[in-house]
Amino acid sequence: MKCKSVIAAILVAIFIPVLLSACAGGNNEAKEYTAIVSAMDNEIEHLLKEADIERVETIAGTQYHIGTLRKQPVIITKAGIGKVRAASCTSAMFNKFQVSRVVFTGIAGGIRDDEHVLDQVIATRLLQHDYGTMSNDGFIWNSGDPGAGYNGGEFYYPDKELTALAYKAAVEVVGKEHVFKGTIATGDQFVASQSYVDKLEKEYDAFACEMEGAAVAVVCEQYEKPFAVIRALSDKADGKAHDSYTDFGDKAGEHSSRIVLKMLEYLGSE
Ligand code: ADE
Repeated sequence: MKCKSVIAAILVAIFIPVLLSACAGGNNEAKEYTAIVSAMDNEIEHLLKEADIERVETIAGTQYHIGTLRKQPVIITKAGIGKVRAASCTSAMFNKFQVSRVVFTGIAGGIRDDEHVLDQVIATRLLQHDYGTMSNDGFIWNSGDPGAGYNGGEFYYPDKELTALAYKAAVEVVGKEHVFKGTIATGDQFVASQSYVDKLEKEYDAFACEMEGAAVAVVCEQYEKPFAVIRALSDKADGKAHDSYTDFGDKAGEHSSRIVLKMLEYLGSE
């Protein structure tokens, strides 16, 4: 009799939390996924064609494609454009699924003179270039006062191992001369201005500008998830940026996807 009640107590202790979590719509996935996040269709359509998608879940209008790609369990999702959508998509994903790492793939504007359209930039550091104080003397990104963190910008750092893997994959796919690694500057602006590009290089040592990377980085830091950001250049963020983006956006999106595929192959062979 005593033995039976002990077994009953153990069963209750095991099953009640599981049941409660399921009822609450909690995170009860068994698999650990590599999440591939992008901003636009042309940045993931190549991956979706290559993947075996088992199901699609929708949270707040954002679709999460769940399946297998290069034998790896993956979630592929398009967040939409800009920092808010990127952060919302990433945190909703973390709350619902077991994600072990995040790879952001997409396109960007190039900054350096020696970069060319369709070159690849792998982030070693990210920042929000539009986050700071608008003072009487103009915009101040980082006041230099460590106590004024909420007023000034800060840097976010991708996972070193995942970033090294992304770099290796990029070199293999597009060749070393077409791959750069360095700072990526994120902001809620499509940059089409040579003078602003010069500022991004001079003030932040940036190699590329885009509209989501640092937002995903903030959320990954909050949830303590390793992440990497890989970007192919669709334009040089100058006065010709819109035309270049129209001409090369799809191709650049596909280039970046091919690097993600190579990364997944490496992850499978680790
Ligand atoms: N994504 C692609 N090109 C870009 C640019 N010039 N500015 C911001 N995001 C971009």
